[in-house]
Amino acid sequence: MEKFYVQGPTCLNGEIFISGAKNSALPILFATLLTTKPIELQNVPSLSDIDTAIQILRKLGATIKRSSSIYIDTSTVNNYKALFSTVTTMRASIWALGPLLIRFGCGEILLPGGCAIGKRPIDLHIKGLRKLGAEINLEKNSIKAQIDNQLKGAYISMESISVGATITIMITATLVSGITIIKNAAKEPEIVDTANFLNTIGAKIKGAGSNVITIEGVTNLSGGVYRILPDRIETGTFLIAAAVSGGHVTCFNTLPNLLNVILSKLYEAGADIKIGVDWISLKMQGRPKALNIDTAPYPGFPTDMQSQFSLLNVVAEGKSIVKETIFENRFMYIPELIRMGANITIRSNYAIFQGVNSLQGTKVKATDLRSAVSLVLAGCVAKGTTIIDDIYHIDRGYENIENKLTSIGAVIKRIDSK
Ligand code: EPZ
Repeated sequence: MEKFYVQGPTCLNGEIFISGAKNSALPILFATLLTTKPIELQNVPSLSDIDTAIQILRKLGATIKRSSSIYIDTSTVNNYKALFSTVTTMRASIWALGPLLIRFGCGEILLPGGCAIGKRPIDLHIKGLRKLGAEINLEKNSIKAQIDNQLKGAYISMESISVGATITIMITATLVSGITIIKNAAKEPEIVDTANFLNTIGAKIKGAGSNVITIEGVTNLSGGVYRILPDRIETGTFLIAAAVSGGHVTCFNTLPNLLNVILSKLYEAGADIKIGVDWISLKMQGRPKALNIDTAPYPGFPTDMQSQFSLLNVVAEGKSIVKETIFENRFMYIPELIRMGANITIRSNYAIFQGVNSLQGTKVKATDLRSAVSLVLAGCVAKGTTIIDDIYHIDRGYENIENKLTSIGAVIKRIDSK
């Protein structure tokens, strides 16, 4: 298994070019199943989750070429069953079900997996598809969907906010006759990006980014070219790298207005922040101030930045509390930080921090994608050597992470400990 070997403490200074957003590229890749015309996607990050999605599409019969862009031709798709093991390695696979159903009148996928941050049920996805008129049956390890009578647009009021279920319903309703209204929709920028992509190829989606999305079904979609949104979580992660190491990092090819709540929290921590149209620069003199954080659906504080801000609180001056309200098991990395010398107490979905002067390098284990990078950053600021195990989590969501970190002064090496 590959590990990262990190030497600290280092002060992280330099320039980072942000990649495209994983959580935009994934739904958009699966949404290409809705059309038979050629699609070119630009700014798609090179990540293992993207490779998995491409693999699934190819096994369904799509023809996909990758150079600086990804070229997708789904006219060759001839299989409505995504029953390959790769489907279970990634939560995003669920987004194949709706398009397969629309395309073939039936679809079947293995139950999608994901990381260990929570049970990750898919009941809201299923309820949404049933509201559109689909017949859904949960088999032992798979989900079967079929259209007995024609699907019709529906009024769907989400019982709770779900990024994934909002996307499932939105992309499926694109080709369902009539009007579909999604009430209490999730508002993440990646949902807006998916809607913008679909509208580029002929869909009629309004209100994405608000809590009411209206989709007027069309009969077919065309082809086109689309550029994926920059990754706001990667941006936030590299800003935190500067904030926790007393450094100065500038992120280019990003969109500051996607990070409003993250930037206001970093200001509160005492960072000196400058922003331009497509760049953000953060400088931290000395230790950050401690911050109280409650995660929430967008535009609230993103749960995908929870572990990075927890690391800030670990090295900050003062006491703070982080409350995780989205996932039930997203503090798995805390014991690893405590082994590095952090002073943290967990009470149900709260973590209480007392900032410490320094951390000590040791062996730690990554548990999920976002906290894995926080352990790497902890290694960058800790005294001595930190070895992070199970780094396959990181490769799922961060493109070229060791090169990007090395470019800002980290001492990091990928070692393969067979
Ligand atoms: C998406 O996951 C993202 N993944 C997650 O990013 C992100 O943390 C999450 O949205 C919240 O922003 C992708 O986009 C691939 P949800 P998703 O449906 O869609 C519950 C990362 O690191 N729920 O908004 O799974 C669910 O258990 C990943 O990039 C149901 O109960 O999130 C959770 O408690 C991690 N039933 C809450 O809703 C359902 O049918 C929010 O989940 C669906 C969700």
